[in-house]
Amino acid sequence: EKGTYAHYMLKEIDEQPFVIRNIIQKYQDDDNEIKLSDDIRAALNGADRLYIIAAGTSYHAGLVGKEMMEKAAGKPTEVHIASEFLYNQPLLSRNPLFIFISQSGETADCRGVLVNVKEAGHPSLTITNVPGSTLSREADYTLHTYAGPEIAVASTKAYTAQMAVLAVLAMDSARAAFGDTEFDAIYELSIAANAMEVLCDAKDDMEQIARDYLFETRNAFFIGRSFDYHVVQEGALKLKEISYIQAEGFAGGELKHGTIALIEDGTPVIAVVTQENVELNTRGNLQEVVARGAHPCVVSMEGCHREDDQVVIPSVHPYLTPLVSVVPLQLISYYAALHHGCDVDKPRNLAKSVTVE
Ligand code: M6R
Repeated sequence: EKGTYAHYMLKEIDEQPFVIRNIIQKYQDDDNEIKLSDDIRAALNGADRLYIIAAGTSYHAGLVGKEMMEKAAGKPTEVHIASEFLYNQPLLSRNPLFIFISQSGETADCRGVLVNVKEAGHPSLTITNVPGSTLSREADYTLHTYAGPEIAVASTKAYTAQMAVLAVLAMDSARAAFGDTEFDAIYELSIAANAMEVLCDAKDDMEQIARDYLFETRNAFFIGRSFDYHVVQEGALKLKEISYIQAEGFAGGELKHGTIALIEDGTPVIAVVTQENVELNTRGNLQEVVARGAHPCVVSMEGCHREDDQVVIPSVHPYLTPLVSVVPLQLISYYAALHHGCDVDKPRNLAKSVTVE
């Protein structure tokens, strides 16, 4: 039930801090250790390479998961779009583990890959919001994202929940690999949940940004680097799918290799700046588009913020910034869609789960 909320999407955005806290509880045992079955642990640790397979928003969560797995645990990880992998399989390592990420657990493109993977005898794990779903039943192992039913077609809380579960897996793998890890995912997730709450309380500001930047435009660009690149791809998908404003998320450094030709007077460019090592690079890219007339909006993080940035998120662990920086992007998309008179929860041409190839 959406209760007092005008739309499921807004309710589901608001639920995110609770979902993250719920995941912390579910994945922690009484001794504050990570709770994972021995089978799953053995599958993760026994694999020489992880292959994450997903579509849409879940694919974007996978991109962040890869970063966490490689950076925290030194575990080689690839992320593939399910429909691509299905007909154009890359070379596999000797002992792969396939990880399917799917909110619904019913995405046909993922299922196609899973069927092939099983036939080839490779182990598989599904991370899903719907245990009992097809992908969950057919994979060897399942991890639950505990986000509660997600009704709006635009995925919000499932995305942040998926990344939270991947953070827990990365921490567990890091412990297995190195004996200990500096990445205390459980603690850092609780900090992130608090930060998400701060952003959920800033709805009026996000509505104003949507009005100032997206009311009259037909297109918008998002830029970021590293973790911020992954989150801007998700921000762009959110905006286009519910407001029908043509939007793309780019790696900051790529703009000048072509896309900058599209920048005109007033074109909105939304930059996400949370990673200290690339802060100045992204700000430099922003200056390049501003010089061509772009209307810049900056979502930054405390510590690498400037006074005139439009949104500043509280400081969180660098691996977890997407969980927080996506919240303003979700809200801005929501209000842009509302201002454009779109059917927020049921955008045209889209189904909640895509059960055909
Ligand atoms: O249920 P799944 O996570 O497998 O769905 C994958 C995509 O269809 C889904 O994330 C889609 O991109 C959303 N509508 C995005 O908001």
